[in-house]
Amino acid sequence: ERIKRAEEKQRVTSQPGFPATRLRRTRMQDWSRRLVRENHLGVDNLVWPFFVMEGDGVRQPVESMPGVERLSIDLAIQAAREAAELGLPAIALFPYTEMGLRDAEASEACNPANLICRAVRAIKAEVPDIGIICDVALDPYTSHGHDGIIVDGEIDNDRSLEVLVRQALVQAEAGCDILAPSDMMDGRIGAMRTALEDAGYINTKLLSYAVKYASGFYGPFRDAVGSGAMLKGDKQSYQMDPANSEEAMREVALDIAEGADMVMIKPGLPYLDVLYRVKKTFGIPTFAYQTSGEYAMLSVGVENGCIDRNTAIMETLMCYRRAGADAIFTYFAREVAERLKAED
Ligand code: PBG
Repeated sequence: ERIKRAEEKQRVTSQPGFPATRLRRTRMQDWSRRLVRENHLGVDNLVWPFFVMEGDGVRQPVESMPGVERLSIDLAIQAAREAAELGLPAIALFPYTEMGLRDAEASEACNPANLICRAVRAIKAEVPDIGIICDVALDPYTSHGHDGIIVDGEIDNDRSLEVLVRQALVQAEAGCDILAPSDMMDGRIGAMRTALEDAGYINTKLLSYAVKYASGFYGPFRDAVGSGAMLKGDKQSYQMDPANSEEAMREVALDIAEGADMVMIKPGLPYLDVLYRVKKTFGIPTFAYQTSGEYAMLSVGVENGCIDRNTAIMETLMCYRRAGADAIFTYFAREVAERLKAED
């Protein structure tokens, strides 16, 4: 028996590279793991998206996103202040537009006194040092829930561009720091960049949702902005086919040429291969969106006791970093920022 064991040990230890290489050596202690860690997650890598609504002192839970609420502007200011105190570099605002203000032309998107513009002005006045990111897309404003304008039963690219450019200018005027077109119309980055330059907004940044897939992971977001129930059909004629990644590279190349400062890959977790390729190929600031569906999956898994909350959240965010994300939009941003601060 002893001889057999000795022979077995001899067989194992004489394998090439062993024991010269024992990858477990550096894994043994916490300090050692920290010393060889290849990627880091900090508060600077997080963007906190939240939803604003009309009213005063109003907070309304979003049912499909446990722990997420729509906030009236006064409470949104408070949230922005907390975000700034936690060191979060930026927040992203999304409006819940009153149903009566939605129409086929998304007129309210271009109203300089609309909810989002008032929220931006109010937050800028009270919390000047946090970056504000606004979506450029028409779905919170249309009566049909699509991101563009419908002409003869189709989402009309060039007609949509006209409205999107006006929406972009109105939001820039309100003081939005980063415009984030998430509509997936062709040519919108170039059209917006030209319009911004012409209007003197030369420092307004464009974060293009260059690679946005027609995904099943946006459902809870559509509840949050109230567009889900109104949506007729799907978004496959403008958002990308999940089967494609060569096309993603073309989208990014075009948007960089048209003047994007940063690009977004969305959703996140199922598309880390695309994120990795984009970052490696273009080297441009590359963001990823941990979408509402990803948030809901994790939250519900945690609620059901199947998943450990902290471990799963920190792990997924680190995986985004490892794949190449410079920043991650996540509804967990405040919670994670608090944890990172406590660990400091
Ligand atoms: C609007 C928009 C969507 C999201 C961000 N901007 C939804 C969609 O395109 O249908 C999704 C965000 C999320 O799911 O968290 N165009």
